Amino acid sequence: MKTVITTSPDEAAQFIRIGGIVAFGTETVYGIGASVFDERAVANIFEAKQRPPDNPLIAHIYDLDQLPELVLEVTPSAEKFINAFFPGPLTIVLKKQRGVPDNATAGLDSIGVRMPKLQSANNFLRACGVPVVAPSANISGRPSPTTWEAVLEDLDGRIDCVLRGVPTSIGLESTVVDCTSELPVLLRPGSVTLDQLRSVMPETAGNPRSYGATPRSPGMKYRHYSPRAAVVLVSGELEMTAINGHDAAFIGISAIPASVKLGRTFKSIEEYAREVFEFFRECDRAEVDTIYCQTVPETGIGTALMDRLRRAERG
Ligand code: TXA
Ligand code: MG
Repeated sequence: MKTVITTSPDEAAQFIRIGGIVAFGTETVYGIGASVFDERAVANIFEAKQRPPDNPLIAHIYDLDQLPELVLEVTPSAEKFINAFFPGPLTIVLKKQRGVPDNATAGLDSIGVRMPKLQSANNFLRACGVPVVAPSANISGRPSPTTWEAVLEDLDGRIDCVLRGVPTSIGLESTVVDCTSELPVLLRPGSVTLDQLRSVMPETAGNPRSYGATPRSPGMKYRHYSPRAAVVLVSGELEMTAINGHDAAFIGISAIPASVKLGRTFKSIEEYAREVFEFFRECDRAEVDTIYCQTVPETGIGTALMDRLRRAERG
C-alpha cells in the first residue's frame, strides 16, 4: 500500500469515508484513525500497528453532539470533566452505545472518548463526519509518535494516509479517567493531573490497582514506549557521574555528562515530556545502546512523564 502524505484535512478525511486508516496529529501524540462504525477499518488499525486485540481504542470527536452515537449516558462526573477539560488532553470512559462495534472497544461495554484541542485535528474530525477511533500511531510497544515523520518511520506502507502537521505540543498521551461508576478512577496519568480532576470531582480515585485484580485500562499492562536501547532511570549526583560509555545517551534537566554520544537537557519538565519520545527514536537511529533518563519530581506533568519512563525502563 502506498501511504499518501497530505496537508489537507479534507483529503485525509476522504480516506476515512471510504474505509481507510489515516494518521493525524493532536496536541498529545499522533493517532491512527478509522471510522468507529467501520469494523473492517478498525481491524486494519490493529493489524497495521500490531496491537493486541484486547486493548481498546479511544474515539475522537469534534462536537459534543456526537456523544449520543458513542455512549449510553453521560454520568454526572463525566459532565463535570467535559465542562472543565474538553477540548483537551483528557479521555473519559463511559458505557458504550449499542451501534459501536465490539472490536473498537476490545469487547468491553465501555468506550473512551476525547475531543482534541488542536485545530487541524478538529478540522479533520469535522470533515470525517463520524467519530474516529485512534490509538497512538506507532507500532505497538514503540515510543508514541510526536511528529508526522515518526509516524512514517513505523507505519509507511501500512496506512492509507498521513495528515502532515506540526510536532505535538504536549508529547505524552491523554489522561484517561473512568467515569462509568459513581466514583471516577484515573486510569492513565497525563497532562490533566489528578489534582486538576479533583478540583472538579474531589472523590476521583488515583490508583486503579487498588480497584480489583483486572486492570481497568487494558493497555496499561503491555510493554510500552520502548526504544531498542535499554532505558535506565537515574536520579542523584552519584548515579549521574557513573554514566559513561560512547554508546550511551542522556536526557534530563541537569548538565549533559561529557562522555555520552547523544544528550538533551531541558529548562522545564514540560519540555522534557514533549521531547522524550522523539529523543528515544533519535537514540535508535544513532544506535545508542543505553539511554539514561533523569527522574523528575512527580508533580504536574512530572507524574505522567515518570509513568512513561518507568514503563520504558521495564521494556
Ligand atoms: O492522547 C491520546 O490519548 C492518543 C491520541 C491519539 O488521542 N491516543 C492514545 O491511544 O494514546 P492508545 O490507544 O495508545 O491508548 C489508549 C489507552 C489505553 O491504555 C487503553 O487501554 C485505554 O486508553 N482505554 C481505551 N478505551 C478504554 C476503555 N473502554 N476502558 C478502559 N481503558 C480504555
Ligand atoms: Mg499507545
